[in-house]
Amino acid sequence: MLTDKKKEVLDFVTKYARRRGYSPSIPEIAAGLKRAVGTVHEHLQNLEDAGYLQLNKNQRRGVQIFEATSMVQIPLLGTIVAGQPLTLFDTPTETIAVPANRIPNAGNVYALRVQGESMVEENINDSDIILVRHQSVAENGQKVVALIDNYDTTLKTYYKERNQIRLQPANKNFEPIIVKWGKKDFAIQGVFVDVIRNKKSAPAITPERVAEKTSGKKIVDKKTWRNVSIYLADCLDAFKSIDTNSVDFIATDPPYFLDGMDNEWSDAKLKQKSARAGAIQGLPVGMKFDPEQGKKLEKFFTKVFHEALRVLKPGGFMISFSQGRLFHRLALAAENAGFEIRDMLIWEHNGGQGKAFTQNHFVKKMKIPAHEKEQIIKSLENRKTPQLRPKFEAILLAHKPKEGTFVENWLTWRTGLIQTDFPESQQTTVLNYKKPNSRKLIDHMTIKPIDLMERLIEIFTSPKQTVFDPFMGSGTTGVAALRKNRKFIGFEIEKKYFAIAEKRLKNYEKTG
Ligand SMILES: C[S@@+](CC[C@H](N)C(=O)[O-])C[C@H]1O[C@@H](n2cnc3c(N)ncnc32)[C@H](O)[C@@H]1O
Repeated sequence: MLTDKKKEVLDFVTKYARRRGYSPSIPEIAAGLKRAVGTVHEHLQNLEDAGYLQLNKNQRRGVQIFEATSMVQIPLLGTIVAGQPLTLFDTPTETIAVPANRIPNAGNVYALRVQGESMVEENINDSDIILVRHQSVAENGQKVVALIDNYDTTLKTYYKERNQIRLQPANKNFEPIIVKWGKKDFAIQGVFVDVIRNKKSAPAITPERVAEKTSGKKIVDKKTWRNVSIYLADCLDAFKSIDTNSVDFIATDPPYFLDGMDNEWSDAKLKQKSARAGAIQGLPVGMKFDPEQGKKLEKFFTKVFHEALRVLKPGGFMISFSQGRLFHRLALAAENAGFEIRDMLIWEHNGGQGKAFTQNHFVKKMKIPAHEKEQIIKSLENRKTPQLRPKFEAILLAHKPKEGTFVENWLTWRTGLIQTDFPESQQTTVLNYKKPNSRKLIDHMTIKPIDLMERLIEIFTSPKQTVFDPFMGSGTTGVAALRKNRKFIGFEIEKKYFAIAEKRLKNYEKTG
């Protein structure tokens, strides 16, 4: 891309050469433009990389302009990020100047900035710009910009196979994307023509660099050992480092943001609120039944579940705990993201605290004679607010659409069928487990029973498979996964909980 500063250097060299018949030296360009020699040198390097000129390093006047080359302006439409829709600029006013001889028929060519590492082995790197010819058909082996399910856009090598399209990345750490005929919408949005390299972002490709770059941008901490990888990060950032179709099962207990904290979770704020509420955990002060809350929740989880769907293997299950009054929003979010909703499971427990209360306090404040107040209070003797004592938590059971039949999907991915090797009485949608009393030992407000998590993991996975919890809290799902000989990936946004989870998981590995 030709920035103003580079254009200034190019114009200076061009005019100088036209006037005098020979090129300026680098110190002459620096003096003419009042810039440092090093800066000029860097601009010249970039101009050479972009095909505007050639630098003959051993000559004093070694800058050779490709005068005959005319330039064409190509619109830079947006950014292409692996696994996300194309981010188109609102008004694509930016154009890039490219030597015309690099792209015959430039009329239907557009440019996109690349974000991600999935094509590094083809030397297409993060921050490079690709030139794409707008067309809707391609031949096997061509690199295409593909749109899947009207949502995910990706740059991959295209292969049309018997029952499917295979989109092959050029990075051994990434799996191919398989699109079965008729299962998903698929469209080619253009065919790759050329790449304009962003020199700074393209050092030699090493496995370390790929690992470092793909581990996301805002991951505050990451710990990996034997069967565990845990990230201290906002899940939406950390998801970027998990490969597509790589996880066997998602089991999570997400935040519901019930207390007007929007999409934020803060342990300190929660505790403060719950203390003020009179020790009723999970019912913060001033909780309002505002329908906007549910809508916001659905919006947030649609984003989260889009990523969850991407990383799950086809046919893989996701279970998510939920609040009775917000279950529908969570289910909608999963459906918006492309999951199939299979069921509602029930965690039946020993019961929570009753939250219904009488209206006496409000009646006493009414500006009416005392005897009328007494009458009203008497008439409402057995009336309370509509909150029956909770005895269960709803669990959403969703799964990623499978590829082919149950058997075909199982043979390819080992997902989609459940384990039923339990007594018949236990093969129901209701799972009865006591609430954990380990809250005193583990400082987390919403810890789940480990034996319940173990049972869910047994039902939905096989030994050695990977269990993933994007909201891991104190790591209960992880400990259950390790106990059942599974691998675990977890994300947590609060440093304190991340530390608790790390300790619990390490302790388990030490003591078994
Ligand atoms: C309901 S708790 C999970 C508790 C867990 N089941 C346990 O047994 O400890 C939800 C967790 O999600 C974390 N969280 C909230 N927002 C997050 C985000 N955007 N990314 C990652 N973690 C988040 C919270 O800090 C909290 O620990």
